[in-house]
Amino acid sequence: MMSGTMQAETTLVSLGDLFGLEAIRGLRYGVPPRPTQQDIEDLVPTPDPAYVFTLDEVRRLILWEGGEVGRNLMIGGPTGCGKSSLIEQFCARLNRPLYRFACHGGMLFTDLTGQMTIRADGSTGFVYGPLPRAMREGAVLLLDEGNMAPPKVVGALNTVLDDGPLFLPETGELIQPSPRFRVVATGNAISHGMDAVHYRGTERQNIAYLLRYLQFQTSYKTATEEAAILHRAVPGLPGKVIGLIAEFAHEVRSGFLEGSSPVPVPTRVTRKWAAVLHTRAKALRNDPVNEMLFGLKFVLTDGLQADHAKAIEGTLSRMIDKLTLTDEDFKTGVGIPATIPAQEDPTMELVVLLNPNRGGKNEIRVWVLGSCDRTGKTFTASAGITPFTPFVPKEDISRQDAMIALQQKLNQRGYVHCLDVKLGPSVGIEAARRATDAFTKAVAGAKPVAVSSPAVRDIVSALCKASGTQVELVMN
Ligand SMILES: Nc1ncnc2c1ncn2[C@@H]1O[C@H](COP(=O)(O)OP(=O)(O)OP(=O)(O)O)[C@@H](O)[C@H]1O
Ligand SMILES: [Mg+2]
Repeated sequence: MMSGTMQAETTLVSLGDLFGLEAIRGLRYGVPPRPTQQDIEDLVPTPDPAYVFTLDEVRRLILWEGGEVGRNLMIGGPTGCGKSSLIEQFCARLNRPLYRFACHGGMLFTDLTGQMTIRADGSTGFVYGPLPRAMREGAVLLLDEGNMAPPKVVGALNTVLDDGPLFLPETGELIQPSPRFRVVATGNAISHGMDAVHYRGTERQNIAYLLRYLQFQTSYKTATEEAAILHRAVPGLPGKVIGLIAEFAHEVRSGFLEGSSPVPVPTRVTRKWAAVLHTRAKALRNDPVNEMLFGLKFVLTDGLQADHAKAIEGTLSRMIDKLTLTDEDFKTGVGIPATIPAQEDPTMELVVLLNPNRGGKNEIRVWVLGSCDRTGKTFTASAGITPFTPFVPKEDISRQDAMIALQQKLNQRGYVHCLDVKLGPSVGIEAARRATDAFTKAVAGAKPVAVSSPAVRDIVSALCKASGTQVELVMN
């Protein structure tokens, strides 16, 4: 018989501390102690200190882990965007034992449940597979590359996915799931959305199976998030170099998703590349252009067919054409934020409109229109109210039109285009500072400044605070 784990007392821990996210520092979550049984404790993954979580990831994973809305989660997304490591690192932070099973076309259901095996002493016995073990031990079962599994195998999981028991004919046991048992499946073309051209050999899953999962469609990290990862992973590397790697990766990935680039540059590649450059810091200092190219060849392009390698190396060469480095650049962390700013999207662009004398009352009114860049696409916030939510894809022309229409309407009412603020990654910090200065000059002397919503008030006061200008703000 298998042994189970006792349900242990949890400790309330700040979610912000657990996942390195300032915005949720005030939220607490019950974390169980590490399992006491050695073989189960060994299944808790090791934390990667360079791992960067986003708010969206943590929000969804916490909902899934809590178990009240659904115990099965499916994560889709392009190759190397961080699906498997997300689960691994989430489990590491929450002391969760994890069974990671790599699915493949030839797999059988008994690979998951277990089989009779001949032991070294010649006797036979049943060896439990990851499924009954995870069910009993209250562990997480990760079906990695779940889209590679034959539909008849995943179909056999349906009872278990409905929180039902698992019957093992070989032992006659009926395995009941622990309340902490969770299933997560990852895949490249696992459900909807992804272009299956890049992922031939993956199976189209049965809808009855898909609907038993919560869904999470992910993509590559933004350039800012990528820079934060590299900065944490290789802190000694110059911010300039990290910024270039992150932007280059972002560009090639966007091309890959649109079909114009043959391969992506995933984070597993950028981390290796940054590590190579760091170990060759002296050479990098003296000849940055050739060293960056050498690093890229070593971690990626020497393994590609010649025309693909040439295209990708050409993109890099154009971006680093004039790169020079000084000793100053090698001071730790120059120019790159160590953590992602908590409240704002790091690549958010704001258009600030001012009305200098609205209604003849000698007061300035402010409108802020926002858009932000996520996962390589531009997202537009709904008109004028908040730059943060809701995000609407660029393809949604009607929403873009609505934003332009709003701007025109505001112009007719006497609002003038004051400035564009780009709250960007390291490269954008200086631009944001200049914009902030321009903004505060524009509002200096205005008493008071009326703002249209709490979100706009927060932005305006952040802009004022950034350059030390005192302005009285009133809600419109
Ligand atoms: N958010 C992150 N922070 C730090 N490192 C990351 C992050 N995401 C991915 N990585 C790095 O990239 C590596 C590969 O990511 P991972 O294996 O999770 O991608 P995947 O989407 O599962 O890939 P595949 O589609 O090939 O299975 C990780 O082992 C880790 O080193
Ligand atoms: Mg994976």
